[in-house]
Amino acid sequence: MCGIMGYIGPREAVPIIMEGLQKLEYRGYDSSGVAIIEDGVLNVYKKVGKLAELKNQLNGMTFTAMSGIGHTRWATHGRPSDVNAHPHADCQGRFAVVHNGIIENYLPLREWLISMGHKFLSETDTEVLSHLLEEFYEGDLVQTVLRVIDKIEGSFAMVILSLDEPGTIVAARQDSPLVVGLGEGENFLASDIPALLAHTRRTYILADGEIAVLTREGVQVIDQFGNSVEKPVFEVKWEAAQAEKGGFDHFMLKEIHEQPSALKDTLSGRINPDGTGVLLNEITMTPEELKNINKIYITACGTAYHAGLVGKHVIEKLARIPVEADIASEFRYRDPMIDDKTLLIVVSQSGETADTLAAMREARRRGAKAIAVTNVVDSTVAREADYVLYTWAGPEIAVASTKAYTTQLMAMYLLALYFAERRGTMPREELKTVIREMKKLSDKVKVILDNCQAIDKFVAEYSHCGSAFFIGRGLDHTVAQEGALKLKEISYMHAEAYAAGELKHGTLALIIQGVPVIALATQQALFEKMVSNIKEVKARDATVIALAMEGIKEVEKVADHVMHIPSTHPVLAPILSVVPLQLLAYRMAVARGSDVDQPRNLAKSVTVE
Ligand code: G6P
Repeated sequence: MCGIMGYIGPREAVPIIMEGLQKLEYRGYDSSGVAIIEDGVLNVYKKVGKLAELKNQLNGMTFTAMSGIGHTRWATHGRPSDVNAHPHADCQGRFAVVHNGIIENYLPLREWLISMGHKFLSETDTEVLSHLLEEFYEGDLVQTVLRVIDKIEGSFAMVILSLDEPGTIVAARQDSPLVVGLGEGENFLASDIPALLAHTRRTYILADGEIAVLTREGVQVIDQFGNSVEKPVFEVKWEAAQAEKGGFDHFMLKEIHEQPSALKDTLSGRINPDGTGVLLNEITMTPEELKNINKIYITACGTAYHAGLVGKHVIEKLARIPVEADIASEFRYRDPMIDDKTLLIVVSQSGETADTLAAMREARRRGAKAIAVTNVVDSTVAREADYVLYTWAGPEIAVASTKAYTTQLMAMYLLALYFAERRGTMPREELKTVIREMKKLSDKVKVILDNCQAIDKFVAEYSHCGSAFFIGRGLDHTVAQEGALKLKEISYMHAEAYAAGELKHGTLALIIQGVPVIALATQQALFEKMVSNIKEVKARDATVIALAMEGIKEVEKVADHVMHIPSTHPVLAPILSVVPLQLLAYRMAVARGSDVDQPRNLAKSVTVE
């Protein structure tokens, strides 16, 4: 995710901002920039690539500015480039804006601003902010910011520098982190605490809807109506390394907790305002092309492949198109039957996985059109595919994938609904119900994260075990596979996922006294069958931990432990049921003392076949 740094005080701003941005490098970024006011001119410097590129550009220049803003960008709207880097200015160069998050309604705003004569330079959603400020400014920056906020929808942490009010920096937050650093005769802003620690440990953590007005002398915080807000000072006690992880012990845990906001971002701007349909402007297939699709292949590796398995289930169920999900390293060598009516969906967090890329190249060579579902803008997979659906999860640092997976699932649902709607395979009411439930998933993930104590008990009892089994049917089986992979890759405990009905054809021989079996039972329609499978393993003295949707009560009678997830539409259950399994793997890895963020033998991005 992007990094923000702002400074106002008696010292030279540029070195302070550059040093702050460097402290935020761990967040991942692809370009950077700073804006300062010098000699009555607003100067913006920005560069694609690492901070060193920006430093080279600034090398040899002397700066006297004592206030300024800086940014490291992780591309969402528009590829990484000099022009798309932040800060963004308005037509007259009077306002500079840095922004994290997504302005959902930027397209109509952009069109309106263009009709008012504004000239846009970049492809970003952010640039509408600087032009809106220019359009509305009537001599009071704070009032103008309030008016801009009223016009925009989406998530933002934004910081504004204005030529008309050079002694002030204004910042606003909605669903994207922003922290004020309180100094003596100087004040700071940053998207994360590590950027502030060299200067101060006294902070205000801005809440959603709050606006901070910084001058050298002080900081005033107001709400979206302009009323003053009393902020408690938050004294940072963490050391630098822990601060990078937002106070969490590992990046993986931080990323697990980022899922509610990541899921919101994936949905952002992709649902009709009235909730009756899906908007995927990036898929520009003609109705004719859509109608002609007679087969879909989904291909990917690792966790992304598991997201593909969910995609297969939901696209077949909702859009009634046959789908095969394939491991990318197998797909290209098995002579798949492809023609120009075949659609390929490739799923890749990094967009650089060699096997996935090779599979996509092979399918396109044979005439298929390809949709890439990826998290990294302008990655190789994104560049080579015919259409791209970005997941907007923000950078994922831990090797074990968590928020990338759940946002890939969200992308799968969006695609399934998109096809279903356009091919007329789903009753309108059901479509609306699924969309309504999708919008609630983010909050439901939060509920799970706040109520996961049952996992600790399980971990305390079973961390010494050599082996664990995950069972489930249908969609639950796909999540079982992801749960087993998570446990293996970070805790090094042997784990296997089985389709629950298949156990008795061989694997049941391994189920003996004390073996933990994690049974997923979120699908009401398959519940009776799952109960029989749970009884099968119980009869062999296994210990069963069931994962069920709220309201499925009978499960308590058959399982030893039960974890509940909030109820949702059955097709959406995987986004919720995987969260306790991610936490289970995490806690197990911590209990067994393995290196959670950098597990042995594994790499985040595998660019060799
Ligand atoms: C590696 C990572 C996995 C990831 C897989 C696919 O094996 O360790 O976490 O799921 O690659 O990566 P991709 O970037 O294509 O999603």
